Amino acid sequence: MKLLIDGANIEKIKKIYEYYAIDGVTTNPSILAAEGRHPYEVLKEIREFIGEDAELHVQVISTNADEMIEEGHKMVKELGKNTYIKIPTIPEGLKAIKALSSEGYKVTATAIYTPLQAFLAAKAGADYAAPYVNRIDNLGTNGIEVARKIHDIFKNNGFKTQILAASFKNSLQVLELCEYGVGASTIAPEIIEGLIKNTTISSAVETFVDDFEHFCGKHKTMLNCE
Ligand code: G3P
Repeated sequence: MKLLIDGANIEKIKKIYEYYAIDGVTTNPSILAAEGRHPYEVLKEIREFIGEDAELHVQVISTNADEMIEEGHKMVKELGKNTYIKIPTIPEGLKAIKALSSEGYKVTATAIYTPLQAFLAAKAGADYAAPYVNRIDNLGTNGIEVARKIHDIFKNNGFKTQILAASFKNSLQVLELCEYGVGASTIAPEIIEGLIKNTTISSAVETFVDDFEHFCGKHKTMLNCE
């Protein structure tokens, strides 16, 4: 399962990249708006930092197919060929996905709440389909089950489309999907850090250090314990 950062704050992105193995960055209009700066300025900064080979997913704002297509062309021109054009999976979006994928653009079908949306996006040629796990949970439906069903639909129909699961609010949601082997998950920086935040783990490591220092002296390590 690929792991992407769902966010646009460059400082947070840099920090997560420093510690974790990350495959790219996804944004959405709300995430970009929260940065309070020109969207292309933010996105170019992210592109420069992650490099031209990393995945950068950027969403169109228009809700009309022709304008979505135009936006997509401009985004790839500005941000490079590994930019995935995120298109909301509505009928106009399916029309745009069909056109852009046949032109050879990389497309992520987003705002997916149902397996049938994902099926239609895959038929239209999307590279990724992004189910919103936690938002689906909040509707009283099981987001993990929806993502698994989409994974099975793709596999059983021989689609090349991968899942890019989004909208995570806790570690268990992430665990369940990496256990199932979905293509990718995009996760907010705070939730990524939470995947390994555990006082039992840090306390075990502290005990190792304390025991060693008690025996060899303060600040001694395997480097200077002669
Ligand atoms: O872009 C879709 C996804 O990022 C939504 O996440 O946390 O707003 O539900 P959230």
